[in-house]
Amino acid sequence: MAFGAVAAPLLASREPWARADEHGAANSPELAVPSTPEALSQELAAARKASAFPPAKPLVLSTWRHGVPANEAAVATLKAGGTALDAAEAGVMVTERDPENLSVGLAGLPDREGIVTLDASIMDHDGRAGGVCFVQGIRHPIALARRVMEKTPHVLLAGAGAEQFARAEGFEILANELSPGARRRYEAWLEESHYEPVVNIENQTSGAGRGASLRGGPDDHDTIGMIVLDGDGRLAASCTTSGLGFKMHGRVGDSPIIGAGIYVDGEVGAATCTGLGETVLKTLASFLAVERMRAGDSPQAACEAAIARVIAKNPDPKTYQVGILAIDRDGRCGGFAVQKGFDFARSTLDSTSLVDAPWAV
Ligand code: GLY
Repeated sequence: MAFGAVAAPLLASREPWARADEHGAANSPELAVPSTPEALSQELAAARKASAFPPAKPLVLSTWRHGVPANEAAVATLKAGGTALDAAEAGVMVTERDPENLSVGLAGLPDREGIVTLDASIMDHDGRAGGVCFVQGIRHPIALARRVMEKTPHVLLAGAGAEQFARAEGFEILANELSPGARRRYEAWLEESHYEPVVNIENQTSGAGRGASLRGGPDDHDTIGMIVLDGDGRLAASCTTSGLGFKMHGRVGDSPIIGAGIYVDGEVGAATCTGLGETVLKTLASFLAVERMRAGDSPQAACEAAIARVIAKNPDPKTYQVGILAIDRDGRCGGFAVQKGFDFARSTLDSTSLVDAPWAV
């Protein structure tokens, strides 16, 4: 994309591109403050080039720091001979079954009626896709989404119909009880019943940030989205979430919607989004990123173009967060976000890094 199109917002992106941590190597060029917008554009373009990860195959990317253990499971699946699709499913299942993750899986935060409802989708190299939304009592909605893809003529099953299909496929339907953490949060929320999405809530309700202050407000959203390129060059994507905490009963976000939460075209690349789903639903940002790669953008430029569109179509970007990740068929990758605070896990067969994505505003 024309970098200058978002040059002004990108002024905020003056932070290390990636950080060193216990999982991997540093990748953190520091940028000097430029004197003009033109200088900024040139400098950021140069920094982007200098700091880009080398292409890798296999390669696994997933959203937020809870992506680290998820990626490790995905890599283990690849090492055991699994495909990109197998890895994308197995990886996010780690997050789904984390009893303390308040934003993915059955332990997640409920809607305003106190009911946990789950959304998930999966897509493979050949364009096959499956999803479930507004389901209850399913421990692994991503596995059910894969079953929809592989065993039905449909792409998306919702609510009671999806649960009926799950039963027919031998899935256990569990009692939809709130996890202790979700119950505490719901009871606190009920005192004011105030709905206000919180930016970067994902890192406050899972992983290293779990238990941190929620700035006094109810929290809202979380997702794990994963994109995988396997050793045979096949791509896959998965996405699963309990959606916005304290959402309206019946609300469905971007995660189960093909083109919004995930998109894959085996001839081009794959992308996944996280953050405030309504903004992504209105822009189909994952689809957009893949189309930008088809048109010749690098994965990083494609992510920046998609976030620029999200911002262009959704006012007040300081009030919401969207993060996006992309991989192309050659194993190049990118990540970008509306605002500071989005991180992602990047894994090769040898190492996993937690990366701070650059941001726009
Ligand atoms: N991105 C997850 C949601 O909005 O439900």
